[in-house]
Amino acid sequence: MAVLGGVVSACIGADGETCPEARLEAVRAQDLKEKDCGARMWREAIQQVLISETELHRRIQALGEAITADYRGKDLIFVAVIRGAMMFSADLARAVDLPLTIDCIALSSYGDRHVSSGRVHIFKDLSESIAGKHVLIIEDIVDTGITLQYLWNHLMSRHPADLHVCALLDKRARRQVELPIKYTGFDVPDAFVVGYGLDYQQRYRNLPFIGILHPEVFEKERLQV
Ligand code: PRP
Repeated sequence: MAVLGGVVSACIGADGETCPEARLEAVRAQDLKEKDCGARMWREAIQQVLISETELHRRIQALGEAITADYRGKDLIFVAVIRGAMMFSADLARAVDLPLTIDCIALSSYGDRHVSSGRVHIFKDLSESIAGKHVLIIEDIVDTGITLQYLWNHLMSRHPADLHVCALLDKRARRQVELPIKYTGFDVPDAFVVGYGLDYQQRYRNLPFIGILHPEVFEKERLQV
């Protein structure tokens, strides 16, 4: 799959589901037009817009409707994996028409680097018990799957009624550990994506869209390894 030379535009069918294969389009200059990118800083750091604000909103509404239907009558708790999933979990929770509860767990495997360290650290654990509850892990991205595997084992040891995963982005090309993802927003290519909660060295989380970071931004780090 072409990665850095093309835009992946997640296509949404009439039923609201993501097509299994992302649609590639040629990069167009208007991808970085002012209304999408705003500040000049973003224009210099972002190679291209991958998923627009509008596409994010539409897909999250569809995910929210699916979760509402699946969890009606159940004691549902969102476990938001922060910091990456803070934007997604906040918007998704508002798209779910159920009296769910929300807890957060702070994990990190990347630190400030652009590749995963493979070691997961818990910076903040859950505040509430999940025993007997229907737990939905809310992740911004599943990449190698190492973080999710760690979290899955951590939560299963606390005896939830059931445990499932909702990931906004699925970067399947880099998967090392396979776990079932019940709800997926978009499949993404093997490129460094930022925005809408995803960072590089803690920056770019506040972009309202998902974009591909320009390789020059992390070239300096790569040369130092
Ligand atoms: C990111 C992301 C996932 C994880 C996925 O977190 O939020 O939790 O990496 O990567 P993996 O599938 O290769 O394990 P990160 O460590 O960057 O911390 P953050 O949530 O603070 O951004």
